Amino acid sequence: MLNFELYNPTKLVFGKGQINKLSELVPQGAKILLAYGGGSIFKNGIHQQVIDNLKGFEIVEFGGIEPNPHFETLMKAVEIIKTENINFILAVGGGSVIDGVKFISAAVNFDGNPIDILQKHILIKENAMPFGTILTLPATGSEMNSGYVVTIEATQEKLASGGSALFPQFSICDPTVIESLPKRQLQNGVVDAFTHVMEQYLTYPHDGYLQDRIAEGILQTLIEVGPKVVENPSDYALASNFMWSCTMALNGLIAKGVPTDWATHMIGHELTALYGIDHARTLAIIGPNLYRVLFETKKEKLAQYGKRIFNLEGTVDEIANEAINKTVAFFHTMGIDTKLSQYTENYNKTADFIVNRFDERGWKAMGERQNITLEKLKAIVEMSY
Ligand code: NZQ
Ligand code: ZN
Repeated sequence: MLNFELYNPTKLVFGKGQINKLSELVPQGAKILLAYGGGSIFKNGIHQQVIDNLKGFEIVEFGGIEPNPHFETLMKAVEIIKTENINFILAVGGGSVIDGVKFISAAVNFDGNPIDILQKHILIKENAMPFGTILTLPATGSEMNSGYVVTIEATQEKLASGGSALFPQFSICDPTVIESLPKRQLQNGVVDAFTHVMEQYLTYPHDGYLQDRIAEGILQTLIEVGPKVVENPSDYALASNFMWSCTMALNGLIAKGVPTDWATHMIGHELTALYGIDHARTLAIIGPNLYRVLFETKKEKLAQYGKRIFNLEGTVDEIANEAINKTVAFFHTMGIDTKLSQYTENYNKTADFIVNRFDERGWKAMGERQNITLEKLKAIVEMSY
């Protein structure tokens, strides 16, 4: 097992009715920026619950954080925080609102031009504004990690960053909030979390036995509850297992002491930046083809995955191949299309565009073995058309 350090200061408050604990979790006397997205929290009553539980606190509201949050929007919140002397941020939303708040928290006290945080990938280790979250969409794990992804509208770049100062102080995860989610977002959540596990699991055989077993447990749980929760989000057993699986998929635990990949995400982010395709769907487009192009170096782990998750039998090559097919079939069961051409007609130049971008950024050796060259990248994207 590789050496590791585990640091995760987020207090996770999980379960039905836990939003009632909000006033105990927010620092006493805080002046709060209540940040949210496009308004779903007004329709499903979560906004009212928050207001009811923050009586006595001074609150300034900031709405309009869009899916795949924009740098330009978030900088407006940074201004408000400065002029209103706010000292705590509460994110109420899905990954986009939480990620957006992480960037706001980083940018408020940043000494320099905040766009550099994104473009120069500056990790924030101190001086962030404290924040908490109320999760409304299980998917990203952002409620219990210190990473975020922000889009710069002006340059059409979707960039990931983070830092140890960007963990939420607390996150309230009430599984009943998923009742109001559209099917599309439930489908996205399952596939995003599934791919998070794959990024940290589907590499090469190593001796992190426990990490593998935890990862496989999350995959199996998502396969078990995923299709059902889409049909019946008010079933609490399904909702709570779905939500907890999503958090566990990306709170850092299963990445400890093992190699990780993340190339599917890096490529997928480009598809969102270019075509606005939902994050999870970009992963379903790219992931399986990445496994195909990297077959020779991933097949041992693909075979382990195929045996343990899908009970497949045969040679390593046979099981590994079939495991990829089963993964695609699972995404289809989840109602997710897996070809780029099903989302956009203008896909012809996508591979060249992404290759050029990665070349400019110096991303020429991605993946757990740093063997995803620009040539392989082109093959993966073209195979995804
Ligand atoms: O904006 P509102 O009106 O709230 O509506 C949202 C949005 O339209 C809606 N929604 C959320 N909760 C709802 C709800 N509608 C009804 N009922 C509820 N309870 O769902 C829509 C999508 O929300 P969004 O936050 O964009 O989705 P998600 O949680 O999938 O987040 C995606 C973003 O997270 C980033 C992605 O790149 C993308 O930008 N990621 C962040 C990660 C991290 N921080 O660790 C890792 C992930 O890999 C991912 O990259
Ligand atoms: Zn993701």
